[in-house]
Amino acid sequence: MDLLQRYPALSDLKAKARRRMPWFVFEYLDSATGSESVLRRNRADLDNVLFMPSILHGEFDPDMSVTLFGKTHPLPFGVSPVGMSGLFWPDAERILARNATKAGLPYGLSTVASRTPEEVGPHLDGNGWFQVYPPRDPDIRADMLKRARDAGFTALVLTVDVPVASRRERQTRSGVTSPPRLTPRLMAQVAQCPAWAIGTAQQGMPRMRLIDGYAAQVTGLSSTEHAGYMLRTSPDMGYLKALRDGWDGPLIVKGVLDARDVPGLEAAGVDAIWVSNHAGRQFDGAPSSIAVLPAIRAATKLPLIFDSGIEGGLDILRAIALGADFVMLGRAWHYALGALGKDGPAHLIDLLKRDIASNMGQMGTKRLADLPARLIRG
Ligand SMILES: Cc1cc2nc3c(=O)[nH]c(=O)nc-3n(C[C@H](O)[C@H](O)[C@H](O)COP(=O)(O)O)c2cc1C
Repeated sequence: MDLLQRYPALSDLKAKARRRMPWFVFEYLDSATGSESVLRRNRADLDNVLFMPSILHGEFDPDMSVTLFGKTHPLPFGVSPVGMSGLFWPDAERILARNATKAGLPYGLSTVASRTPEEVGPHLDGNGWFQVYPPRDPDIRADMLKRARDAGFTALVLTVDVPVASRRERQTRSGVTSPPRLTPRLMAQVAQCPAWAIGTAQQGMPRMRLIDGYAAQVTGLSSTEHAGYMLRTSPDMGYLKALRDGWDGPLIVKGVLDARDVPGLEAAGVDAIWVSNHAGRQFDGAPSSIAVLPAIRAATKLPLIFDSGIEGGLDILRAIALGADFVMLGRAWHYALGALGKDGPAHLIDLLKRDIASNMGQMGTKRLADLPARLIRG
């Protein structure tokens, strides 16, 4: 089967994933909050970033590599942390970690993933980033950081754009409950998706394994009921400083949209800033990530990581042109897994790479650093 012929774009993978994932699972992955206007803004504002093509450059192989935290990645993108990743496709965390490692890309593991750092670490090769939703208890925090470090994770990501739980109305409508319960309605959806159902039966029902361990220790109750109690989702500057003191590798703050936050983050000693609106899952009144990127770029020399709404190689180039050093994708990897199972991530990497090469060819840009010169500035 020629994957390029059958699935030439991410939209083809998403359409197939929609059929192969139970409805409530797909809705959980795909939905944002409120009227989902942030999703539309992300798309519209990315589409409005235009480049002037350039001619007569002869044949060349564009250099797509980026060096970040002293490590050179052959391509400028990676895997964003996604909670309960293994719900979307059985064993998603380990499949994605293996594919990222093979391609030399960073892989982000969420605190609320369905696999622990120890389960995923052996599939990484120094390219793992551990994402923290901050535990309230300092001993649990110290233990979590130690476990992440011991499992080989090299960078720490503190997510700051989930200060309170968001309302995901579309998710609620699909029948997802918290804690999750397999109602007859959801069982009927599962029955229509045999590959997902068999894989999930083999791997065991996904749950937040890292949090589960601590929740039992603290309260004797299950993680999903107590994630809210255990994790202080709304950290403050004091918490950031404590985290800085407890981690000697690169520290990244994820979920920044306001350039006015930059001086405080620099003073706290962070190593990189991650511009993101969490794919519209938290706040429907937020601007698109791409709209705020230039002001944040102007405010700092720190490396900038970017995500939210990336759907192809051209979007990656748009973000880099406006100041991002590196670009991450969240849902796209899971659409790829849903569509093609374990073969999905490699196909997505291939698509993005071809798309980047083709667009760099059109612009006559041999290196990513040449992109800003091709921007049409409004
Ligand atoms: C289902 C789902 C779960 C997510 N869980 C987390 C998480 O646990 N921690 C986190 O920092 N970000 C989480 N994110 C946000 C992603 O890391 C990332 O910011 C976002 O998905 C990027 O946008 P994209 O999906 O359009 O690429 C989640 C996103 C989705 C879609």
